[in-house]
Amino acid sequence: MAHNTGMSDEERASMSGAMAKVLADLYLLYLKTQNFHWNVTGAAFFSLHLLFEKQYQEMADEIDELAERVRSLGFFVDGTTVAFKKISSIVEEQKVVSWEEMVKQLVDGHEVVIRELRNLNFLAEKHRDPGTVDMAGRRLAAHEKALWMLRSQL
Ligand SMILES: [Fe+2]
Repeated sequence: MAHNTGMSDEERASMSGAMAKVLADLYLLYLKTQNFHWNVTGAAFFSLHLLFEKQYQEMADEIDELAERVRSLGFFVDGTTVAFKKISSIVEEQKVVSWEEMVKQLVDGHEVVIRELRNLNFLAEKHRDPGTVDMAGRRLAAHEKALWMLRSQL
């Protein structure tokens, strides 16, 4: 059955594609943050262990909200690691690195996601999609806060 909500099929598909990219980046950043939560060491171990936990828990909810927004616009979600790795800009870390390197990589990761959300917000404004404008705006501000918490460690 056709959608009659004031957005064209092309506009909805364009939003869905942009959200799939953010979802992929977000999922790999989530996994990286949890991996660092497990493996961090150093004098600031406990505070970083807890900070990383808070941040990956927040991203778990965000991932769910974003994927369900794709479904709400009428598309299926390709929720596989194969699909995520194909389009994500987040590079996975294979080794156990120093806490400074962990924080730097997470700073870079949040900056990637912030740029993606800014583009998503812009596209959503263009396509008159206030549901996505709102979500992207809220999530962008949350990542800016996460970035502040991480940068303050360095
Ligand atoms: Fe844990």
